Amino acid sequence: MFKKITDLKKDALHDKTVLMRVDFNVPIKDGEIQDSFRIKQVLPTVEYLVEAGAKVVLMSHLGDNTATLKPVADWLNQFLPVKFSTEVVDTEAVKNLTAGEVLLLENLRQHAGEEVGSEALAEELAGGADIYINEAFSVSHRLHASVVGVPKILPSYAGFLFIKEYEELSRVFKASKPFVVVLGGAKFSTKMPVIESLVPLADDIFLGGALVHILWRKMGYEVGRSLVDEGIKGLEEILKLKNVHLPVDVIVENVNGEKLEKLPEQVGMQEVISDAGKQSVDKIVTAISKAQFVLWNGPLGLVEKGFTGSSRQIAEAVASSGAYSIAGGGDTVAVLNDLNLVAGIDFVSTAGGAMLEFIATGTLVGIEALEN
Ligand code: 3PG
Repeated sequence: MFKKITDLKKDALHDKTVLMRVDFNVPIKDGEIQDSFRIKQVLPTVEYLVEAGAKVVLMSHLGDNTATLKPVADWLNQFLPVKFSTEVVDTEAVKNLTAGEVLLLENLRQHAGEEVGSEALAEELAGGADIYINEAFSVSHRLHASVVGVPKILPSYAGFLFIKEYEELSRVFKASKPFVVVLGGAKFSTKMPVIESLVPLADDIFLGGALVHILWRKMGYEVGRSLVDEGIKGLEEILKLKNVHLPVDVIVENVNGEKLEKLPEQVGMQEVISDAGKQSVDKIVTAISKAQFVLWNGPLGLVEKGFTGSSRQIAEAVASSGAYSIAGGGDTVAVLNDLNLVAGIDFVSTAGGAMLEFIATGTLVGIEALEN
């Protein structure tokens, strides 16, 4: 088992420099944060460390190597004073911190060493710090310097949110039945290992979104101009599984921008499959209403093009069901937020890819790094 922040006495943190990996990878437009869910989830841990009198150094990635975390520092300053460094490694700024102060370092991905897991970068980041905390479960599937390199150097612990993510997502492995899974999104390749892991556990796995298109193509159906995640092996096995269900009808958009409801085998060459149809949604909603446990990751329609209909109905069904419910993935959380339904879900994960990988394998490289 990994070491936890709760293993540390709060008093023992006084005057200690705590280097904390967080995930502030949030959507930002024109310098404005579009969805602050991930940042808000980490605030209690930052406040705990400040109260304990630690010198808190926050490090995160944001998008690619061009983005800056300055808007996040500005956002955080509404709640507590946070200094911002324009450097990924800033030994001076770390050294000058006093007890209870917080410093946010610049986007880790601006440093070429982060994504290749450079030991030299890990050494530089760890320099001057006494303790490392991983509070970024959602990026703990990445073999990056700040995730797996630093814990080799410093005494390392999981943060409160990390522990919660681990415990909540672990419920999936012993879910009460009926256990209903809804998996959407664009890429079949990222969902395939999760489907394989969930097949023995779940009663019904409903697939939707563009990830289904490759399966329909395999069945010989036309998918028109819809997105297809090519080059995946093992599709025949998935299609044989009795508890894996594809949509029974779809909404397509034709070249004139008209929206039509069709059977999957009726899609025309010039059409784009845009959402699950009414009968498919009804089937899923009925299954959710009878479930004891529901897991939902990924919207069933092209939400980025405004096709939110099915996802909104599923969000409402999950939130109003008596089942224990877990949801995750950026687009899924955005639908829930839009409808003000986050409070109706038992656990909303900050993770997307990491959630899927954890459910597929039962672990993450970032978890293992805290076990050594
Ligand atoms: C996420 O958004 O899922 C995490 O922040 C990881 O981001 P990445 O997929 O760019 O590594």
